[in-house]
Formats: sequence, structure tokens, C-alpha cells
Amino acid sequence: MTPKPLTSAENKTTVLTRITDMTVRLGGRVVLDRISLTLHAGQITTIVGPNGSGKSTLLRSLIGAVTPEKGRIEHAPGLRVGYVPQRLHIDPTLPLTVERFLSLPTRVPASVARAALNEAGAGDLTNRQMSALSGGQFQRVLLARALLCKPHILILDEATQGLDQPGSAAFYRRIEEVRARLGCAVVMVSHELHVVMAASDRVICLNGHVCCEGAPEQVAQAAEYRALFGTGTQGALALYRHEHSHSHDHAPGCDHGHAEQGTPHDSA
Ligand SMILES: Nc1ncnc2c1ncn2[C@@H]1O[C@H](COP(=O)(O)OP(=O)(O)OP(=O)(O)O)[C@@H](O)[C@H]1O
Ligand SMILES: [Mg+2]
Repeated sequence: MTPKPLTSAENKTTVLTRITDMTVRLGGRVVLDRISLTLHAGQITTIVGPNGSGKSTLLRSLIGAVTPEKGRIEHAPGLRVGYVPQRLHIDPTLPLTVERFLSLPTRVPASVARAALNEAGAGDLTNRQMSALSGGQFQRVLLARALLCKPHILILDEATQGLDQPGSAAFYRRIEEVRARLGCAVVMVSHELHVVMAASDRVICLNGHVCCEGAPEQVAQAAEYRALFGTGTQGALALYRHEHSHSHDHAPGCDHGHAEQGTPHDSA
């Protein structure tokens, strides 16, 4: 399962992907300017930044959908990447079951589809029509689709867009469980700063270039981050920040902002 790392794992961190000095130009404009970034196995990295700051472009360059004008992207040999896109439109008039959707464009064995759906908390949706799913169910199916390849890196682009607060908190909790079980790295983009920063090992603040990066607490203190987002997330961070080695059932304050909502609840 583990791909061959780019560097030896002497310090226990396996490097999965390394981006060096990458510049991306789209429509004649530099969208990402000299980005360098390293992804380690098992780490949750969150990318934050204003609209149009290049977050989706950075994720798309990680999956090879965007070609850099300059710089390098190196992946560990044998690396598998799962991707949940920011937008996916399915014609509502198209009859398409969840099971069939997971077999597009490449047919997957029913057992593999079932395992991915269970992993994503969507095991009961196999025979449902894609057009009849709620927002939260749809996102879980997209997550299942990204898990089909048993990814070493799971990439999520605003995966909780359109979900209500308990729904998105439940989704992030599931991502953390998936990461713990599969040991995959997670790279996600979100505008829900207080929730995702708390769930992250590392935050990258992007605005065409890397403004600042580091542990959530460090980034929340950085002048560059405050200039973009103000200081509002700092208090929230103190409330929500926790270690990943906890048990969700018993550890207080580990609910990713869900605690004040009462009983655990998944969006449906
Ligand atoms: N195919 C394209 N051709 C030309 N310009 C593009 C293309 N795709 C994106 N851009 C531009 O690149 C910039 C970065 O876009 P990107 O989608 O990466 O931003 P983002 O940070 O993900 O924004 P959002 O928060 O709105 O999702 C934007 O100015 C956008 O208009
Ligand atoms: Mg985007």
C-alpha cells in the first residue's frame, strides 16, 4: 500500500509529493507564482485563501489536470490520489444509480464499490438515484468515489459546500476517521476556517503565492493571514484545536464545532 517515498523515512515522515517553485499560468495570467510545498503521509493539510486565489488550481495541478509553466511536481512512485472536485454537475434527468456512478468511467467490482461506500458512510445508498440524493449524501458518494483507488493522498476541494454546519462537521469527522484508518494524507480546501483549521496538521494560506504556512496556531497569528481573514478565527481555534489521537466518543471538545449541536448527527 505505501508508495516508495521520495526521501528516506528516517524522521518518520514519508514524503509523498513535492512541488518545487511551481508557476501556473491560465488564460495568459499567472495564477500560481513559485509555489513550493511538500506533502507527508498521514498529514492533513488545509489550503485557505480568498476566491480566485488559486486553491482549486493548486489541487488540479496535484492531480495532473493542470500543467505548470515552470517548476516541478514529483510524486512518490506508485502514488494513488483520490479527488473530490469543487463542482460536479450531473444532469438531474439522467437515470443513474450510485452503484453505476461509481463504475464510471471505469467499471469497478461491486465488492470494491461497496467497501468504498461503507468507508464513506454511504453504504445504504448503493441503489439510490444520484439525482435523488441530499447534499450530504451526494458528498459522501463523491468521497466514496475518491476512495475507490485506496488513495495515498485524498484531495477535497470545498467538499462541504452547501452542507449545513452539523452536516459539514460530520463530514470532516468522517474524513479524519478515513485518514486514521487508511493512513492517507489529506489535502483540502475550505472556507470554513474555524472548523478546518482545527482539524488540520498544517495550514497553507494562499493568494496566488504562499502567504504563510505552518501549524494552525502559527498561521492564525501570521500578519499575512490576519490581513486576509482578520483575527476572528483565533478564538475559535482555541476552542476547537485538538490532537488527532483522541477518541471521538469520549473526548470533550473534539467534535469539530459540533458539540453545541447536541447529539451527533450526519447530514442525510
Ligand atoms: N481554465 C482557466 N482559464 C483561465 N483562467 C482560469 C482558469 N481556471 C481558473 N482560472 C483563473 O485562475 C484564478 C484562480 O482560480 P481558482 O479556481 O484556482 O481559484 P480558487 O482559489 O479555487 O477560487 P474559489 O474560492 O472561488 O473556488 C482565477 O482568477 C480564475 O479566474
Ligand atoms: Mg476553488
